[in-house]
Amino acid sequence: MYTHLLSPVDAGSTTLPNRVFMAPLTRSRAGQPGDVPTAMNAEYYAQRAGAGLIISEATQISRQGQGYAWTPGIHSDEQEAGWRLVTDAVHAKGGRMAAQLWHVGRISHPLIQPDGADPVAPSAIVAEGAKCFVVQPDGTPANIPTAMPRALEASEIPGIVGDYVQAAKRADRAGFDMVEIHAANGYLLQQFLATNSNARTDQYGGSLENRARIILEVVDAVVAELGAGRVGVRLSPHFAAHGIADEDAEDSALYLAREFSKRGIAYLHIAEPDWAGGPKLTDDFRGALRKQFQGLLVFCGGYSAATADALIRDGGGDAVAFGRPYIANPDLVERFRLGAELNEPDPSTFYGGGERGYTDYPTLD
Ligand SMILES: Cc1cc2nc3c(=O)[nH]c(=O)nc-3n(C[C@H](O)[C@H](O)[C@H](O)COP(=O)(O)O)c2cc1C
Repeated sequence: MYTHLLSPVDAGSTTLPNRVFMAPLTRSRAGQPGDVPTAMNAEYYAQRAGAGLIISEATQISRQGQGYAWTPGIHSDEQEAGWRLVTDAVHAKGGRMAAQLWHVGRISHPLIQPDGADPVAPSAIVAEGAKCFVVQPDGTPANIPTAMPRALEASEIPGIVGDYVQAAKRADRAGFDMVEIHAANGYLLQQFLATNSNARTDQYGGSLENRARIILEVVDAVVAELGAGRVGVRLSPHFAAHGIADEDAEDSALYLAREFSKRGIAYLHIAEPDWAGGPKLTDDFRGALRKQFQGLLVFCGGYSAATADALIRDGGGDAVAFGRPYIANPDLVERFRLGAELNEPDPSTFYGGGERGYTDYPTLD
């Protein structure tokens, strides 16, 4: 079954045994205090080691980059050691893993920022309708509207690029095979890229090239650290939540795909918008992306084994990442191989909590 999806493929410097990726999935179960990955997190990922590549849940590169309580970080020694537990467990089961490097930008609030600071963004524009997740002063957790951000000074941007580099160094030391730069889903890097969240008049705003500049600076700096063959990027053209409305969604994705291709990065990961109420990507746009990017092209969002296999068979993409199916099916590749039924995910246990809905989904055996 599904011979295209289940065939091996090269991703930069790594050969993957199949093209079924585990999508990045925030599960809000990092150890407290300190947002440190735990033995339970290691067990969860190791259960899913059959994936061609596991992409970690979004992982903040700094305290400033955090917008949700209980998500893991990769900016302290304790977090680095926690991730080592995870990658060792995944490798022991024969798997491979990328760390998704995350800065939320304006999707945050002083209640979760260091010293109660304002969140930062390209411009002081609030994310209409967006929520973040904080522990309130009385100790109760709550989803609350994001706060008005402070516009970053141009002189602060090298520091943010530096935080990505520090996180990449820690990811390397923690045993990750790759990193994925999270430039999707309305977080800091997409806030720079999108026309309605960036009103800057300096070299980081205005033209498409200027709005994309910070992404390429981050990619270049991380590539210099790890080598292009260990770096992927996630984009979400036409993503329509977190206050994002990008008039240049396709042109900017195509421009970036071309620039990434020049740099020879391992993969480009497209988070499709329609699973969360956005439009469907057109065939023309998919074809244009394919033309601009010569590396491994990964799509994600609402796929089944059959639609993923057909995408790869027809040359539209090289791999497919699965999100919700991976939450509920630790042995997803094996189930695809056998054409077996899938367990249904339970959304009430997606975020937070313990083993229930996390490490207790049954495998076939
Ligand atoms: C519970 C949950 C958490 C998610 N967390 C992340 C994340 O940390 N980073 C990210 O880029 N996307 C995240 N996503 C989006 C998924 O990676 C994926 O794009 C989406 O689930 C669509 O794929 P699917 O239809 O296979 O589930 C999340 C989605 C869900 C359902």
